[in-house]
Amino acid sequence: MRVIDAIQKKRDAGALSPEEIQFIIDGFTADEIPTYQMAALLMAIFLNGMNDEELAPWTHAMLHSGLVMDWSELGVPTADKHSTGGVGDKISLPLAPAVAACGVAVPMVSGRALGHTGGTLDKLESIPGFNVGVSLERAREMIADIGVVLMGQTAEVAPADKRIYALRDAIGTVESIPLIASSIMSKKLAEGVDALVLDVKVGSGAFMKTRENATLLAQTLTGIGRRMGCATVAYLTRMDRPLGRMVGNALEVRESIDILRGEGPDDVRELTVTLGAEMLVQAKVATDLETARKQIEGQLDNGKALACFQKLVVAQGGDGRVVEDLDILPKASYQKDVLATREGFVGEINAEHIGRSSMSLGAGRAKAEDDIDPAVGLEVLKTVGDSVSVGEPLVRLHYNDETRVPRAEEWILGAYSVHDTAPDKTELIIERI
Ligand code: URA
Repeated sequence: MRVIDAIQKKRDAGALSPEEIQFIIDGFTADEIPTYQMAALLMAIFLNGMNDEELAPWTHAMLHSGLVMDWSELGVPTADKHSTGGVGDKISLPLAPAVAACGVAVPMVSGRALGHTGGTLDKLESIPGFNVGVSLERAREMIADIGVVLMGQTAEVAPADKRIYALRDAIGTVESIPLIASSIMSKKLAEGVDALVLDVKVGSGAFMKTRENATLLAQTLTGIGRRMGCATVAYLTRMDRPLGRMVGNALEVRESIDILRGEGPDDVRELTVTLGAEMLVQAKVATDLETARKQIEGQLDNGKALACFQKLVVAQGGDGRVVEDLDILPKASYQKDVLATREGFVGEINAEHIGRSSMSLGAGRAKAEDDIDPAVGLEVLKTVGDSVSVGEPLVRLHYNDETRVPRAEEWILGAYSVHDTAPDKTELIIERI
């Protein structure tokens, strides 16, 4: 078999055979296929797409390029959630322990902040001592003992994706639905879970800016999951404003603990309950969504989800007192309010601009190797539909470095649209796929 034949076939909009796909993924992972050939093939896929008959073996080959976890000997149902990424999206933190408290184990492999979106691992690391570098042996012990682990990707999981993703990033082929879907699913299916719930974000702060593209991505993701024997459901949810009130690592941990105390903003709780209920149904510990919602709500309100989170923090080396004393989280030295310059009603808040503001204070990364400041970020004081007068605070910045404030303020002022009339109400959850 020759790589050049596969490149020419894809260049001319043909379909690759399962054998060709296996040969290419294996060869590239083993360093036997040169980067320039893989780059040419990826660009041809970007331009001409892949059909379902190609996507399944492509994802299968990426998934099996590394280790696939297996929890069957533990005899517990397993499930996970994946979000395509947003601003203020801290759902994994309350969700994983709430679901575990309902009897479904959650071996969650998460990512780091990149660009304007945050990352679960960075948020967790703002808890003093918390270690996300968990070995697979330790993950197994934690799943057996407390039913949950929140860890970083290990080198053994989907190594083909790591190499392909880095190459895509360098050659402008990230924004391809089949390549995104196979990348996400190869990593998530490597967790070996029975059920997977996907939160596909739509709007200004999301990867997918339009409902049409988000629907296509959701259908592609669920199609791969179901073909590969994992009960997979996707939700399209709104990311046309930040989720919750807090954006920034330690600030988002605070808000997550509020949710685990049965408090916190309605949108964060609603999404936690919706996605958690679906995980229980797909993992077959609840028969319908209504009953499952009550189970998740119950664990958030009776303190059991919070107790599970505390066990998780301690098991991963963190200071478990955080659930009682939020003041042990890092705190920025200064705060400054950004004020409204006109009166009316908040119509839109561009979530990407809010993410960029938080990033410019030091909460995020432009490049994977950048350092972040866990304490900084912002608090959304006025959200969509709220009335504002001139001089009222829209957002409170939490910062350590004064020189970063003007840029952060600019992003905030550019993010808010204030109109004379109140906007129509919109639902957070758009569709279940
Ligand atoms: N997230 C991933 O894991 N892969 C992509 O290709 C895009 C987003």
